Amino acid sequence: MVIRFLILLIIFSYTYSYGENRCISCHENICVEKGNNCIICHRGNDTTTRQDIAHYKLIKGEYAEFNNEKSTITQKGIKLINEANCTRCHKIGNTGAAYATDLNSAVKRLSTDEIIKAIKEPVVNMPKFKFSDEDYRYLITGLYHYTINTEVKSITQIVRLNNNENSSDLFNNKCGSCHKALTSIGALGYFDSAPNLSSLKSTYPEYLNGKSWNKDNLKQWLLNPRSLKKNATMPKIELTEEESKKIIDLLIN
Ligand code: HEC
Ligand code: HEC
Ligand code: HEC
Ligand code: HEC
Repeated sequence: MVIRFLILLIIFSYTYSYGENRCISCHENICVEKGNNCIICHRGNDTTTRQDIAHYKLIKGEYAEFNNEKSTITQKGIKLINEANCTRCHKIGNTGAAYATDLNSAVKRLSTDEIIKAIKEPVVNMPKFKFSDEDYRYLITGLYHYTINTEVKSITQIVRLNNNENSSDLFNNKCGSCHKALTSIGALGYFDSAPNLSSLKSTYPEYLNGKSWNKDNLKQWLLNPRSLKKNATMPKIELTEEESKKIIDLLIN
């Protein structure tokens, strides 16, 4: 058993020190203390001596801490992703909703710069986050931490359950002047002066004291936002019992 392990170890280190790994044809003395399998932290292509191919989708040193869960950079990234609640719409690691692209596959497909651009200049249905330049280092490291080693199980499809025009008109008229939401019947709303309402079931605002949104507290919110949040600035919206139920079923499902 021990001998077998040693033999495997020798083959393994041989392969990575002298065999396959061409990164070290140019980078002999870099990161040696971190191990010779450069691509587990930097991605790229280690079978070539052409720099442009070797550096394809390279992960720079700045973001390469992601394999180390204890690193403060990784921890700050995890915190930012949780606070921003990206999993309301995206699958990240093993959790999240399927309203938008599975980030486990998007991150594999995109370069670091492309990921940053997608967040800085979001498409219509993705909220615009206000991250500082420093935050991006943490955020990207956190994203890599969750996604790079997560297997992509299947291609995610946005499910459109039914094309319920009643509910979409209702949302657009009553909520859409302030909110947007990605829902099972598509992207709704016109403005985002108020929080994005996608996947409320996985949103835990502070004032709900550790609870997420559910049918009961959303009903209460719609009757009177200030009964849940003292200084809520959302006005009370006039809704019939039936309209209220429809909107709740749409947002919590
Ligand atoms: C043909 C030579 C060559 C090969 C092969 C090569 N590199 Fe590089 N690498 C360079 C040079 C030169 C620089 C510095 C200039 C630059 O950034 O383009 C560099 C820079 C880097 C940086 C720093 C980038 C930054 O801006 O922080 C990393 C990380 C890196 N290489 C990793 C790798 C990895 C991992 C591999 C193998 C998958 C690899 N390199 C293969 C030549 C090479
Ligand atoms: C366990 C993860 C890990 C492995 C394996 C690893 N690196 Fe790094 N690398 C990092 C981290 C983290 C940084 C940035 C912080 C630092 O320099 O320690 C970095 C930085 C670098 C830099 C940039 C240095 C600079 O000054 O900007 C280069 C170039 C680099 N690594 C190349 C390599 C090469 C080549 C290999 C394989 C021989 C390799 N790394 C293996 C994690 C790793
Ligand atoms: C309200 C829903 C929503 C939230 C919350 C959200 N996104 Fe997105 N995101 C989208 C939509 C919609 C797209 C466009 C692609 C699509 O339709 O799936 C997108 C695209 C992206 C892309 C580009 C994917 C690609 O395939 O090119 C990245 C990267 C991304 N989002 C990262 C994030 C990160 C990181 C967070 C959290 C900080 C976040 N998103 C929060 C809805 C959202
Ligand atoms: C005139 C603008 C406006 C309209 C119309 C409006 N809201 Fe709001 N809503 C807000 C604002 C502003 C907030 C921010 C929280 C606050 O009030 O402090 C908010 C917050 C919320 C929240 C809490 C989100 C969170 O994560 O904290 C929910 C849920 C919500 N609205 C649901 C709705 C629904 C459902 C409708 C339609 C029936 C609606 N809102 C209509 C302005 C509006």
